[in-house]
Amino acid sequence: MNSKEQVPIALVTGANRGIGFEVCRQLAQAEMTVILTARDLTKAETAAKQLLEEGLTVHPHALDITQDKSIQELASVLERDFGRLDVLVNNAAVFVDWSETATTADVQAVHGVFETNIFGAWRTTQVMLPLIRKSQHGRIVNVSSGAGSHGDPQFGLTTNNGSVASYGISKAALNALTAKFAAELADTGILVNAVCPGLTATTPDMEETMGAFPIEKGASSIVWAVTLPDNGPTGGFFRYGNPLPW
Ligand SMILES: NC(=O)c1ccc[n+]([C@@H]2O[C@H](COP(=O)([O-])OP(=O)(O)OC[C@H]3O[C@@H](n4cnc5c(N)ncnc54)[C@H](OP(=O)(O)O)[C@@H]3O)[C@@H](O)[C@H]2O)c1
Repeated sequence: MNSKEQVPIALVTGANRGIGFEVCRQLAQAEMTVILTARDLTKAETAAKQLLEEGLTVHPHALDITQDKSIQELASVLERDFGRLDVLVNNAAVFVDWSETATTADVQAVHGVFETNIFGAWRTTQVMLPLIRKSQHGRIVNVSSGAGSHGDPQFGLTTNNGSVASYGISKAALNALTAKFAAELADTGILVNAVCPGLTATTPDMEETMGAFPIEKGASSIVWAVTLPDNGPTGGFFRYGNPLPW
């Protein structure tokens, strides 16, 4: 960021814990003003307090991405306080039981997974887009997963006897949504990409039992897409800055 440029305003969904929280830390360390959101305002405030104590610029707000009213209210606050949004990280998601397969899934429960993982990101992007269009360097990052990839040999769509079906399908749909937004916004300068953070230890046991990578590494995979230059890629699917197969 050169000294004449405005401080970027970055919004992260589902940021009270896990990777989203660490993304907030890294974006604030990169001198962005971070809107740290959680569906529970108290949780957002508690998480933001920790980063504020580290000397970072973070604003806590409530945001439930399954609720239109919640998204609209936050957009109004951002319009009033900043007049624009530079970065949207659609991080919030729900996971499902490892044993869930396409043949056994409770389809009603699948609706719930899609409501957050695909429709939540979709509606949040739609509502925030007028603010992002006012940015000179708009970036939308959809936090996806190798679980939504045909080519990921470890957790992809064709592995593990079809486990975590609805989660994988929701992430494949999120990848498709990324491609559609990127194609539609190609002439605007707004870069839209999907990013997998890689297998990330959001709980200490994941590092030991699954060989998951530290949370800083997973978050940096996302921050890479936020900090792309204006001539960077759009409509891609990446992990640690490298293209992933769809
Ligand atoms: N961890 C991994 O190994 C891994 C690998 C690949 C991809 N990913 C992706 O990375 C992202 C973050 O994963 P994570 O492991 O950090 O997940 P996590 O620890 O389970 O955190 C998920 C976050 O999403 C929030 N959330 C859920 N529903 C929401 C809603 N309706 N509105 C707003 N926030 C909501 C949760 O809030 P509450 O605290 O209120 O529940 C929580 O803050 C997800 O998109 C995930 O699919 C993770």
